Amino acid sequence: MDTPLARLQRAPQEDCFADNLLAGLARTPKEIACKYFYDEAGSRLFDRICDLPEYYQTRTETALLTRHAGEIAALMGPQVEIVEFGAGSLRKARILLDALAAPRAYTPLDISGAYLAGVVRSLAADYPALALRPMVGDFSQSLDIPALPDNPRRAGFFPGSTIGNFRPEAALALLRRMRCGLNGGGLLIGVDLVKDPHLLHAAYNDAAGVTAMFNKNLLARANRELDADFDLNAFAHYAPYNAGAQRIEMYLVSLRRQRVSLRGRLIEFAQGEPLHTEDSHKYTIESFREMACRAGFNPRAVWTDEERLFSIHWLESR
Ligand SMILES: C[S@@+](CC[C@H](N)C(=O)[O-])C[C@H]1O[C@@H](n2cnc3c(N)ncnc32)[C@H](O)[C@@H]1O
Repeated sequence: MDTPLARLQRAPQEDCFADNLLAGLARTPKEIACKYFYDEAGSRLFDRICDLPEYYQTRTETALLTRHAGEIAALMGPQVEIVEFGAGSLRKARILLDALAAPRAYTPLDISGAYLAGVVRSLAADYPALALRPMVGDFSQSLDIPALPDNPRRAGFFPGSTIGNFRPEAALALLRRMRCGLNGGGLLIGVDLVKDPHLLHAAYNDAAGVTAMFNKNLLARANRELDADFDLNAFAHYAPYNAGAQRIEMYLVSLRRQRVSLRGRLIEFAQGEPLHTEDSHKYTIESFREMACRAGFNPRAVWTDEERLFSIHWLESR
């Protein structure tokens, strides 16, 4: 099946990588939104992270989905349209699609367009009867996903604890917008849990250095797309756990005083100066359910593993 990628309608003030990077590099401290990790190379690096021994998130969430797929399918009901936010490799969606009764359509949304096109092609080959509506877009800008002509019930799917990449107030606002976009449907969401900080630290500082490559892909992408001249060896991947804020913070730290050129502009880095690239907030089951309530959802089922590493929540719209 050929499935053209649709583009989500953009907000008029649609941002672009160059403008945002230049604006973020002009701030003190320097910062950039983590969505810019994900060009095709970044998505492939994220797939490698998912297979790392230290990265318990993917295998724990996948095991939970597999174990509870029947229950989840019953809660979602038959002939539902699955809308997946930040769909990535689509591997987790396959578990749902296999369990659901006659899913009406699957609408994966991701910012990483070239990568999405590739994974959608292989999903289409494996699920020839499924109506596929891939969409390239930024869910932090627009969630205006057109309804299908027969307006089936929707269920949202937001795995991978991507919600943790938003500060709590922004996460609350995003959940509210998702609830509106789901037109009364529920949301199945994966949320990483507060735990032993050593486990968290290891997950973002893997021995093979794949997370470091993923972090530095931001600079490599700026070199590829924006005529920048970042020296990747002159920056260190640094990802401490901030226990007070219950989040991993990810930085690229300048190893020396240096000047970088980007789109004809010169940017100064002091020795030791950080560029903040990502946060990954962790929740307790209770603190996440409380936020879901504030966003207008009724938290219903929650599944977690024996070690309470990860949680999956089924939230119904109020
Ligand atoms: C942490 S990964 C999770 C991938 C996959 N859902 C999983 O569970 O393994 C985040 C995914 O969300 C996408 N993404 C990040 N920010 C986004 C945004 N603002 N809008 C749309 N997609 C985004 C990335 O391209 C990536 O595929």
